[in-house]
Amino acid sequence: MKEQLANIRAQALEAFEQAKASADLDALRVKYLGKKGELTAVLKQMGRLSAEERPAMGQLANEVRAALESALDTASKKLEAAALEHRLEAEAVDVTIPGRAPAIGHRHPMYIALDEMKEIFIGMGFTVLDGPEIELGELNFDRLNAEPGHPSRDWSDTFYFDQDEKVMLRSQTSPMQVRAMDTMKLPIRIIAPGRVYRKDEVDATHSPMFHQVEGMVIDKGVTMADLKGTLNTVIKKMYGESTQTRFRPHHFPFTEPSCEVDVQCHKCGGVGCPTCKGEGWIELLGAGMIHPHVLEMAGIDPEVWSGWAFGFGLERTAMRRFKIDDLRLIFENDVRFLEQF
Ligand code: DAH
Repeated sequence: MKEQLANIRAQALEAFEQAKASADLDALRVKYLGKKGELTAVLKQMGRLSAEERPAMGQLANEVRAALESALDTASKKLEAAALEHRLEAEAVDVTIPGRAPAIGHRHPMYIALDEMKEIFIGMGFTVLDGPEIELGELNFDRLNAEPGHPSRDWSDTFYFDQDEKVMLRSQTSPMQVRAMDTMKLPIRIIAPGRVYRKDEVDATHSPMFHQVEGMVIDKGVTMADLKGTLNTVIKKMYGESTQTRFRPHHFPFTEPSCEVDVQCHKCGGVGCPTCKGEGWIELLGAGMIHPHVLEMAGIDPEVWSGWAFGFGLERTAMRRFKIDDLRLIFENDVRFLEQF
C-alpha cells in the first residue's frame, strides 16, 4: 500500500508538470483526487489493514493528498501566467506606428458664403438674429401688408399647419423684420439668415426648402441711396470690386418703392448663356424702402423714422460666389463636391 501511494504520488506529480492546459489539469484532478480517483481507491483499502498499521498509513495518504493538491495549485498558476503572457503578447500595441487620421467633414460652401456675408454686415454694425421656422401667419403675412386674399398666401404655395392659416412654415425670412421691430430699440440694423419653405418641385433652380438672409435698417433719415450703397458694397466685397449690379423696379407688399437686384452672370459676363437663361444677369435679392404702414403696425412713426429691407437668396449667393450651376448640388452633400471649396 505504501508503495501504491508512492507510485500515485510520483505519476501524478509528473503528469501535473506536463499538463499543457487548465482543462488537462481538471481531468488529472478527477483522475487522482476525484471520488472515483486513484487515491480514493487506495484509501478504500484501509479497512483491510490492521489497527496498528492504519494511523501511519492514514497519515501518509493525507500527506500524498496534500502534496497532490499543492502541486495542482502550482501547475494551474503556472498555466494561468503563461496564458496571460501569451495574450499580452498577442494584443500588444505598437505605439510607434503612426495613427490613422479620422475622416473629417468639410464646411458647406453655402455656410462659407454665409459666414463671409455675416462678417461684412457685422463690420457695418449689423446684429445677426435667429428666428423660428414655424411662424405665425400674422407675422409672415398680415404684419407685412399681405392681406387676406394676397396671392402669396395661396395654399398651393404655402405649408400651413391649420385650416385657419394661423401657423405655417415661414415662406420668407421677412417676418424677422416684424420680430425685430417688436422687440428691439430703435435705431435697428439686423440681418436674419435662415430656412424658408414653399411648395416648389425640385429642379436646377428650385427646392421646397431654401435659405434667405433678411436684412433691415430703421433710423432717422434713411434713404434708398443708403440701401443701394450698402448692397453694392456688400456685393463687391463678396464677388470682387468689378462686379456689376442692376436695380430693377419690382413690387413687394411690405416695401415702397421695391426693387430686385441682379448681378452680372459669372458664366458669360453678361452676354447671355444657359446659366442666366440668356439674360446676362442673375437675380440675387429683393429689397425696398419699408412701407409706412408696416412701420405703423409696429408702432413706429413713419414721419420720424424710415428704413429699408432686403432678402437675399442664400443658395443663389453661394452659387454665384463659387460658380456652382445646379442648386441640387447644394443639398446633396456629396463630400467629393463639398471638398472642392
Ligand atoms: N421676402 C421676399 C421674398 O421672399 C424678399 C424680400 C424683398 C425681402 C424685399 C425684403 C424686401 O426684405 O425688402 O421674395
